[in-house]
Amino acid sequence: MSTVLVTGANRGIGIEFVRQYAADGARVLACARVPGAATELLDIAAKSKGKVTVHPLDVASAASIDHLVQELDGQPIDILINNAGVYGGDHQTAHNLDYETWNRTLAVNSIGPVRVLLALLPNLKKGKDKKAIAITSGMGSTTNHDGAALIYRSSKAALNNAMHGLSLSLRPDGIIVLMVHPGWVKTDMGGRNASLSPDVSVAAQRKLISALTPKDTGRYLAFDGREIPW
Ligand SMILES: NC(=O)c1ccc[n+]([C@@H]2O[C@H](COP(=O)([O-])OP(=O)(O)OC[C@H]3O[C@@H](n4cnc5c(N)ncnc54)[C@H](OP(=O)(O)O)[C@@H]3O)[C@@H](O)[C@H]2O)c1
Repeated sequence: MSTVLVTGANRGIGIEFVRQYAADGARVLACARVPGAATELLDIAAKSKGKVTVHPLDVASAASIDHLVQELDGQPIDILINNAGVYGGDHQTAHNLDYETWNRTLAVNSIGPVRVLLALLPNLKKGKDKKAIAITSGMGSTTNHDGAALIYRSSKAALNNAMHGLSLSLRPDGIIVLMVHPGWVKTDMGGRNASLSPDVSVAAQRKLISALTPKDTGRYLAFDGREIPW
């Protein structure tokens, strides 16, 4: 049985990863910033016969990450899904830029996933798959930049760059690092006009993840396997 850890697991793409991996028989460590408020996730966990457990995790807090490491007590993790993310608000243009929110967005979207991966590295090294997935965005592509969404785009570009760096430095440990764009997905972040449902996006991402081999480490791909230009 595989063990999968998902961050931001209380809604959107994260909770769909929990549902699908659990349905597939995996053990799922579902992390949420405020577990007490994660009603839907707690319900999934309650019905899972112990396969899904819920853990508090704020990816922007070093103390919270340390607490998770203690709680997991060295148990192996096969697949890490660094999914938690924020969009960065409405003031993201050259003419209206909110620097405070930018700082906060970098902490959640760029620094948080790196800190989570490195804190859980001992657990991943003990796992069978050794796959560290960062849910990024096509908006992290500098090639495809349109001048808008400065905060969100730069936070995902920084995430991609840092994860690419980790893919190189962790290659000797056999860790496979992948940046995945989930597509435009109907969630609180993606909105109701998005083109994909969470179940379709996550099913495609899981297929991509299961087919990964060490030669894929450091790639930046869309959910359907399409290469995204940096
Ligand atoms: N939806 C799309 O179209 C789309 C497209 C490209 C990329 N993405 C990426 O996909 C990922 C999931 O997005 P989504 O669409 O599912 O968004 P969402 O519905 O807004 O969910 C975001 C999740 O991240 C969690 N989160 C935010 N800040 C956190 C923190 N500091 N610590 C821990 N968890 C935190 C949220 O928890 P709370 O409920 O506690 O806030 C929530 O569970 C994100 O990385 C996003 O950038 C989404």
